[in-house]
Amino acid sequence: MTAACLASLGHRVFGVDRDQHKIDEVRNGRAPFYEPGLDELVRENIAAGRLSASTSADAIANADIALVCVGTPSEKNGNLGLDQLRRAVGEIATQVAGRVESHAGSRAKPLIVAIRSTVFPGTCEEVVQPAFADSAAVSVVAHPEFLREGSAVRDFFEPPLVVIGGSDHAALSCVADLYQPLGVQASLVSLRTAEMIKYASNAFHAVKISFANEIGALCEQVGVDGHEVMATLCEDVKLNISPAYLKPGFAFGGSCLPKDLRALVYRAAHLDLKLPLLESAMPSNEQHLRRAIEAVLDLPAQRIGVIGLAFKEDTDDLRESPVVTLLEQLIGKGRDVKVFDPRIRLDAIYGSNRNFILETIPHIGRLLTGSLDQILAWRTIWCWRKSRPPQRCSKFKPAPSPFLT
Ligand SMILES: NC(=O)c1ccc[n+]([C@@H]2O[C@H](COP(=O)([O-])OP(=O)(O)OC[C@H]3O[C@@H](n4cnc5c(N)ncnc54)[C@H](O)[C@@H]3O)[C@@H](O)[C@H]2O)c1
Repeated sequence: MTAACLASLGHRVFGVDRDQHKIDEVRNGRAPFYEPGLDELVRENIAAGRLSASTSADAIANADIALVCVGTPSEKNGNLGLDQLRRAVGEIATQVAGRVESHAGSRAKPLIVAIRSTVFPGTCEEVVQPAFADSAAVSVVAHPEFLREGSAVRDFFEPPLVVIGGSDHAALSCVADLYQPLGVQASLVSLRTAEMIKYASNAFHAVKISFANEIGALCEQVGVDGHEVMATLCEDVKLNISPAYLKPGFAFGGSCLPKDLRALVYRAAHLDLKLPLLESAMPSNEQHLRRAIEAVLDLPAQRIGVIGLAFKEDTDDLRESPVVTLLEQLIGKGRDVKVFDPRIRLDAIYGSNRNFILETIPHIGRLLTGSLDQILAWRTIWCWRKSRPPQRCSKFKPAPSPFLT
């Protein structure tokens, strides 16, 4: 697929596969599997001499880039099977050794080995790079594929994302140049990040489908049109279909998300409807909070300054704030804690928020400080920063809204 598409952009492409049948099909100008538009592309590019196919990897000898697209099937235990990758990389390494010999005395021709197969973070560093340890002329990049079967040709020419990972800038820009005729901007990241982005994308797709199906199933039970619900939900491109709520950070809380999730799950259970994804959201959140608590407790600090107490910044709502749970655990484990939140004035809090405070954390008044400086002056300070593990705040610079969770 990629071979025929790259050839149609004007690149000279040699396709290599161990499967003789696939090679024969391509040589005869046919796609070796059904994919809309692929037959024509293969036919045109074979006829134009831009695409050729072979079971031998000899073409590596003169290649600038080797794109590795071998299968990475599941093993019985669910682990990723890397046998094909190891073998393919070994064959490329053999070809590279031949290149070095044929260039004896002069600098070997450089080769970029771009891993298109879906592989777990660390695979390029731990499996692919070591195969080329003897060749300084080889640069390994991770270049995951985001094409969808059934619309792969269209996706190639209008790519949702082009990700290239590695630390060799010349190699990254060489691979990015492959797509230059498409006018797309590649995302250049580290090797491991590129590998992980592919998994994160597929996990996200799977979670989205399961989410829509669970909402659809619940809608059906309560006599609501699930298609209309999801279509309307998707009209919100500020909060729903957007980067909002898609940043790794602290646990969620507040007066709405936990309450409404619990109500949804309760109603589904009464309808004898199993919604494992929605049911798992609260336990997932609790696990996340536990990880944070353990990370803070693992710090060699007796005095802990907590900056930000409400469940998110720019609110004084403490209801179901995960920071409150964090505080309770820290105090319970004998840590000395001080808290600063610029939005919280206990004397100004009313209603259910006040009731929550009186019932859950009546002692909060003793812990609250009136300014950030009071916490900073308190010698040893550790804070829990969004998206990062807990850190010692030696040079703490307050953000415009100094809220750290
Ligand atoms: N299928 C998709 O739509 C898709 C999309 C994105 C990513 N991916 C990833 O791309 C990779 C390939 O997926 P696929 O569906 O094309 O797999 P596949 O099993 O259909 O094809 C892999 C091909 O590699 C060949 N091969 C294996 N070892 C070889 C070697 N040493 N030398 C030459 N050829 C060799 C096999 O003969 C086979 O034809 C996987 O990691 C997959 O997760 C696939």
